[in-house]
Amino acid sequence: MSKTILVTGGAGYIGSHICKALSKKGYRPVVYDDLSHGNLWSVRWGPFVKGSIHDHASLTTTIEHYEPFAVIHLAGSIHAREAIIKPSQFYYNNTEGSRILLQALIDNGIGFCVFSSTAAVYGNPKYLPIDEDHPKAPLNAYGKSKWAVETMLEDFEHAYGLQFASLRYFNACGADPEGDLGESHPQETHLIPLAIAAAMEKRGPLSLFGNHHPTPDGTAIRDYVHVTDLAEAHILALEHLLEEKGKLCLNLGTGQGYSVLEVLRSIQEISGRDVPYQIQPSFTHDSSILVANATKALTLLGWTPRYSDLSTIIKTAWQWYLSQEEAVV
Ligand SMILES: NC(=O)c1ccc[n+]([C@@H]2O[C@H](COP(=O)([O-])OP(=O)(O)OC[C@H]3O[C@@H](n4cnc5c(N)ncnc54)[C@H](O)[C@@H]3O)[C@@H](O)[C@H]2O)c1
Repeated sequence: MSKTILVTGGAGYIGSHICKALSKKGYRPVVYDDLSHGNLWSVRWGPFVKGSIHDHASLTTTIEHYEPFAVIHLAGSIHAREAIIKPSQFYYNNTEGSRILLQALIDNGIGFCVFSSTAAVYGNPKYLPIDEDHPKAPLNAYGKSKWAVETMLEDFEHAYGLQFASLRYFNACGADPEGDLGESHPQETHLIPLAIAAAMEKRGPLSLFGNHHPTPDGTAIRDYVHVTDLAEAHILALEHLLEEKGKLCLNLGTGQGYSVLEVLRSIQEISGRDVPYQIQPSFTHDSSILVANATKALTLLGWTPRYSDLSTIIKTAWQWYLSQEEAVV
């Protein structure tokens, strides 16, 4: 069987780490990315094709040329808060774009797809930690656009036999422990890079959204999972699909939650610098606590996060930004 895998969104933060992990395991990742938010410099482990997942003809040409046996599909719009004011863009890019991609896979005989889903499909938790059977009630067009793709994948599996894994990431963070890659978004919205930028005085004080959540210190709690551990889980999920066939829906998190203030304290301890912040009103579309029950990924895939303790997450991210200070917004 071919060892080639098409990675849509492979020039992005998580996709580039996945490509490195794939290459280390002997696969050939072909990055397919429109570079709307990705970085060409992060494509280092295989061929690159510039193209959109909306372009069926370009996808077909790429598949015919490189002959991948599977796709890892990360391409999409990612900022949940932007989705509140631009829902059309999110349904277009995440849902319609995915439909066109999946159609191209079916038309070209590709039988395996690993999809980047999100904890945002759950909405406000009815219980914690959140397992995969938790009701799906996404709060915004980001989570809804991803949930729509998950349901589409079910239909494609039923109708066309497409084997798939929907991986619901909690908060991806950290940087490649070997220093090759890290998070570099033109308009950053994620807590850790923004807090590090504030600590480096690359920007003003961090905006801390909401300190009246029903949590011990009043700030929102999230489950932070290291990007290298996420990358590993994608390979394990794909290899599981190859062996067992069928479909998988898995949470990728650690089961451990940290509040915003705990994250800021960890950055201060590791960097030795202050993280200035200003409290802002919280967003109505944000959950106070999101923590995964990731037992299924652990037992089914044998996935063991190795880098997802908060200290390693912050250390790798801090090292990355120290080496790439100009990349910080
Ligand atoms: N970062 C997180 O914490 C997190 C959490 C849950 C889910 N996810 C999902 O993981 C995936 C990757 O996230 P990321 O943080 O690496 O984001 P990212 O923005 O760094 O990467 C997304 C990549 O997709 C590309 N892209 C966007 N639209 C495209 C299109 N129409 N055609 C081709 N390429 C396109 C962008 O250029 C970018 O390189 C996304 O689907 C996101 O929704 C991320």
